[in-house]
Amino acid sequence: MKLILLGAPGAGKGTQAEIISEKYNIPAVSTGNMIRAALKNGTEMGLKAKAFIEAGKLVPDEVVIGIVEEKLKDAECVNGFILDGFPRTIPQAEALDKMGVGIDAALSIEVADEEIVKRMSGRRVCEKCGCSYHIDFKKPAKDGICDACGGNLVIRKDDEPAIVQDRLTTYHEQTEPLKSYYRSCGKLITVEGQDEVADTTALVLGALAEI
Ligand code: AP5
Repeated sequence: MKLILLGAPGAGKGTQAEIISEKYNIPAVSTGNMIRAALKNGTEMGLKAKAFIEAGKLVPDEVVIGIVEEKLKDAECVNGFILDGFPRTIPQAEALDKMGVGIDAALSIEVADEEIVKRMSGRRVCEKCGCSYHIDFKKPAKDGICDACGGNLVIRKDDEPAIVQDRLTTYHEQTEPLKSYYRSCGKLITVEGQDEVADTTALVLGALAEI
């Protein structure tokens, strides 16, 4: 299966991408994670992306398109993949079409802005391995400590409330038009994000079973 996950920041794309990846045994390709890794490693791309990501703006199309194109050439992507956070603009979607990968569906997880703001304020991420938690919905076994590697859990810089508002504005202006783009070619599926992760997962897996 070749799947795109769409949705506002914090709609639960990363959470669902991990679950679908395990169930279908295909890799989740998260441009956000790749950019954060580049930032942490101080690569040229990471340095270019830093100011954009921290201001809640999108990284320039040419930077992201290049890293996705390279990633999709990996042997692990041959049998399918989940694109989490790409495309995020119409030019990115057009570039993906030009790569000729043939997407099966674009699944959009719909969550209201007010709910997003609540969710993001509770997210904590491991500063060492990047694993994501939530202070109410996905608690680590020990407060402030990552279950996977024992690293410290911190608030992501772009999860500060003012930056979340900017990310939402960017989403509505630049990413939401992708719903029409994929609807017009019959590839769009929408799912209402639920209060409990398991309830969203049930709807997502049900929708994917029908593709
Ligand atoms: P990225 O990391 O992709 O950020 P995002 O889309 O803003 O996604 P998030 O990780 O914030 O949210 P999510 O939808 O994955 O939600 P999650 O499952 O974590 O990108 C970061 C930045 O990189 C961008 O702002 C941009 O600058 C740049 N970038 C990335 N891709 C780009 C591109 N293609 N082009 C240009 N720039 C790009 O869930 C959020 C929280 O809610 C978690 O704490 C989770 O536990 C909790 N939660 C999840 N589901 C539920 C539920 N059902 N009920 C309750 N809580 C839930």
